[in-house]
Amino acid sequence: MKVTVVGAGNVGASCAEYIAIKSIVSEVVLLDIKEGFAEGKALDLMQTATTLGFNSRIKGVTNDYAATAGSDVVVITSGVPRKPGMTREELIGINAGIVKSVSENILKYSSNTVIVVVSNPMDTMTYLTLKSTGLPKNRVIGMGGALDSSRFKTYLSLALDKPSNDIQGMVIGGHGDTTMIPLTRLASYNGTPVSQHLTSDRLNQVAAETMVGGATLTKLLGTSAWYAPGASVAYLVDSIVNNQRKMIPCSVYLEGEYNQDDICIGVPCIIGNSGISAIVDVKLNEVEQEKLNQSAVAVRNMNEALKEVLK
Ligand code: LAC
Repeated sequence: MKVTVVGAGNVGASCAEYIAIKSIVSEVVLLDIKEGFAEGKALDLMQTATTLGFNSRIKGVTNDYAATAGSDVVVITSGVPRKPGMTREELIGINAGIVKSVSENILKYSSNTVIVVVSNPMDTMTYLTLKSTGLPKNRVIGMGGALDSSRFKTYLSLALDKPSNDIQGMVIGGHGDTTMIPLTRLASYNGTPVSQHLTSDRLNQVAAETMVGGATLTKLLGTSAWYAPGASVAYLVDSIVNNQRKMIPCSVYLEGEYNQDDICIGVPCIIGNSGISAIVDVKLNEVEQEKLNQSAVAVRNMNEALKEVLK
C-alpha cells in the first residue's frame, strides 16, 4: 500500500512519521514545493527505521507528482498554518488556491485514491476538494473531528485523572474554535457516563478547553500544532488502508443527514477501504442539534468565499 503526504511542513512530516513508524503502509511519499525539503525530511525519517524497527520506505520529492502515482490514500496538508491570534478561517484566501491545484495534480496520477484533507479551514477545504474534483463523497475526508476528539479525550482524562485509553468521547461540527461540538453527554469513562464523575461546571470547562485546543497550542508554539494532527491522520489512514471500519468523526459531505445539506462538516463515520463507508446516525438531543445547525451556518458562510475559486 502507498500513501502520499502533500506538504512536508510540521504536520505533513508528522503524518509521514507516524504512518511509517506504525508500519501502516509499505511506501510513503512526501511531496513539497520547497526544493529539497521533502527529500531532507524523508531521508532523516528513513534513518530512524533501523533504530525504531520499521520497514516502510519514505521517499521525498520536490513537486514531482509522477512519484505519487498509484497512491491508495493522499493526505493534503499544504498551505499556510495559523499564527498566534489567527483563526483557521483567516487562511481561506491563500489555502483555497493551493488545495485546489494540489488535488488536481494528485488525481492525474492516482485517479482511485481516497483524499484526506488537513489544510485549514478544514471543513471548507474538504468541501472545495469535493466540489473541484467531482470525486464521489466517500473519497474525500476532512480529518478535523479525529483530532478534536483526541483533544477532548485528553482533557477529559486530565480532568478525571484517569488513563486516556479508558476514555471515550467524540467531537462533531466544524473544526473551528467556536464551531466544534464536544458531545459531553455521550462521553464515557470505561462505559460509565463522565457526568457521574465530573461536575457539570468541570465538564463545561473541558468542552471549552477542547474547543480552543488548537488555538492554545498555536499560542504556545507560535505556529499550529503537529503531533496530534499527524497522529490523527495516521489513525485515519490505518482505518482506511487496513479496512478497520473504525467509527471516527470526520468532515464529510452531507445530503440530508443530521438535517444538513450541501456542506462538509464533522459527523461520525465508518472509515474503511472505500474511505467513508457509512455515516452513523447518532441521535442528538435538541440542544446538540441546534449547536450543529449553528455550526453549519458558520461553515456555510465560510464556503461562500469559495465562489470565485470554484467558478
Ligand atoms: C489544529 C490544526 C491542525 O487544530 O487545525 O491543530
